[in-house]
Formats: sequence, structure tokens, C-alpha cells
Amino acid sequence: MYAGDKGKLNPLNHILENLLAQDIASFEETLKSALEPQARHLTDTEHQIYKRGKKIRPVMLLLAARLLRGEEELSHKVIKASASLEMLHVATLIHDDIIDDALLRRGLSSVNAKRGTNAAILVGDLQFVQAIRTFVDAVETNSEMGLVKMVLDTAFKICTGELDELETNPNWNLVALRQRYFDVIERKTAILFGLACETGMALAKAHTGESRRIGFYGRRVGRAFQIMDDLFDFLQDEADSGKQVGIDLVRRRITLPIIYAMEELGASHPLSQIMRGDIQPPDDLSHVIMAIKGTQAIERSYADARYDALDALEYLKHFPQNRYRDALEEIALYTVDRKI
Ligand code: IPE
Ligand code: IPE
Ligand code: MG
Ligand code: MG
Repeated sequence: MYAGDKGKLNPLNHILENLLAQDIASFEETLKSALEPQARHLTDTEHQIYKRGKKIRPVMLLLAARLLRGEEELSHKVIKASASLEMLHVATLIHDDIIDDALLRRGLSSVNAKRGTNAAILVGDLQFVQAIRTFVDAVETNSEMGLVKMVLDTAFKICTGELDELETNPNWNLVALRQRYFDVIERKTAILFGLACETGMALAKAHTGESRRIGFYGRRVGRAFQIMDDLFDFLQDEADSGKQVGIDLVRRRITLPIIYAMEELGASHPLSQIMRGDIQPPDDLSHVIMAIKGTQAIERSYADARYDALDALEYLKHFPQNRYRDALEEIALYTVDRKI
């Protein structure tokens, strides 16, 4: 069964069940209302998919708001924004699974596996539209209207990041591939983490400088998070990730650990040949994974992720210490200390 990353040491569990229990209950309630208009178009599996997931983006949004507001009641617009960004995230996952031809999501059949590509495109579109609608609903002032523009800019960049990942040419030199990788993950993953933090704090009435700063924290965590996800592709089993093992390898996605491994193993190694499309990936990936594990690729990628996570902590230092800041600190560290 999909464990949803529920390790004992996972601070997200503590945050979801204790620190933010009330806010998360409101988040769930708002999400439910946002799903109502489309309820008859969603299958049970899709409703289940929505219920699972780590909820790291809404948690970061809520913590950023609470970092400023402490124990005060949060305005409903903050809660709406947290539901909106989870929906935006789910929209990108549904479309990402079409692009990756992935069969498993959050331990369940992906929408494309269950209903085919055509329906999955539309179900993903629905989530995008409802995400934006929910965010717009939260907006009250002109300056908050600027946040809607940020949400749209983010959705735009996620799409261009995914497109550029698809259009990466494996024959480029390794330096160019690495540059492309960092550029892609900034757009497809990091900016949504940054947006969550920035909008959470801005809607809690922060000064612009403060919300920008927490946005930088979020982006660094997002970069680290994607590097770790790319490691988990072949290091974690299905029960832990809720996704197919080695799918990035099979779909020839040139991720950071793969770039490092290709560098060490050389252009004539089967890994490089698979990535270039010269040979088909084998059904049994264990030899390829073993070869990657025999290089420094895992340590090097992990060191890069850790660097970003520690950099994230620097941005937190400017905020007064409270239990919400501690939780944001734990999230940055958890991102790179998740079970490998
Ligand atoms: C998956 O995000 C997509 C990436 C950016 C790697 P999560 O790992 O947060 O997925 P859920 O929401 O927990 O399913
Ligand atoms: C993140 O990349 C995708 C999005 C930004 C939607 P991945 O392709 O690595 O995400 P997973 O592994 O499928 O969750
Ligand atoms: Mg994917
Ligand atoms: Mg992945």
C-alpha cells in the first residue's frame, strides 16, 4: 500500500495532525466545496487521489501565513488560496502523468491509466480552471489582484518548464544538460513552492519585502524537493513513492543523478545509450540502477539538494522565531532527509 511518505520522523505528519490541524480541516472543507461543481465528472479514484498526497504546498502556504499571524484566526482567503494551489498542483500532476505515460499516482491508477488520455486532458483542465477560480474568489483588494497574476505566471512557467524538459536533447554536452536541468526544475517545481509561501504571507498582510523573502525560501526548498524526487525515481520503491519505479529512466528524462552518472560512466555505457535513445531501456532496470549506484551520482545530487535546503534556511533567519518558523525549518530539512 502507498505509504504517502508517512515515516515516523516525518515532521509533515506532526504539522498536519497537530500544529495546523484546524487550518487543515478548513483546507479540506474548502477543497471539497471547490470540487463540488465538478463532482459528477470525477471518478471515485480521482476523489481518492485528491485525498492523498503530502499536501506540502498548502502546508507551506499556511505556515507562511502563521509565521506572521501566530495564533490569530486566519482569514478565509488564506485557506482558499491553500486549496487553490493544491488543485493547481493536482492539475499539473494529471497532465504530467499523460506526458510521462505514467500509470500510477499517489498509489492509485493515474487518471490517464483509468480513463484514457482524452478524458485526462479535460480532467486536468478542469482542475486548472477551478484552481484559478478558487484563488480569484479569495481576492479582495487591488494588491491581492497582483497575486492572481503571480498564480497565472506560475502556471505559465510550469508549462514551459515541462515543455523544455520534453525538448531537451540528450546529445547536448553534459554542462548544457545540467544547466537545462536546473532551469527546468526552477520552473516546473520550485516556483510553485515559492508561490505558496509568498501568497500565504502576502494574504496574511505582510509587507512586500517579507513575502518576497519567504518566497525565496520556498523556491530553494522546491529545488531541493525536485532533486530528491529525481533520486527517489530509482531509489524508492512503489509502496513509498506511490509511483512506478524508474519511470524517469524509461521515459529518458535527463535528471541530475542521471547526468552525473553519465559523466562518470562515459558515453559508451548502456545508461548513456538508453538516454540518447540508441538502445531501448531493458524491462528489468536493476543492472542500470546498480551501475548508477556504483557512481558518485547519488552523493553529488544529494549534496546539491542539501545545499539548496540549507540556503533556504538562511531566508528564514530574518523572521522572528516561533513554532511556525521552526516548522518551516523542519520542512526544509525533511525535504533532504526523507527516507532514501
Ligand atoms: C510531485 O509532488 C511532483 C514533484 C514536484 C516532484 P509531491 O511529491 O508533492 O506529490 P504529492 O502531492 O505528495 O502526491
Ligand atoms: C514534476 O516532475 C512534475 C510537475 C511539475 C508536475 P516529475 O515528473 O518528476 O513528477 P512525478 O515524479 O511524476 O511526480
Ligand atoms: Mg512525472
Ligand atoms: Mg519524479
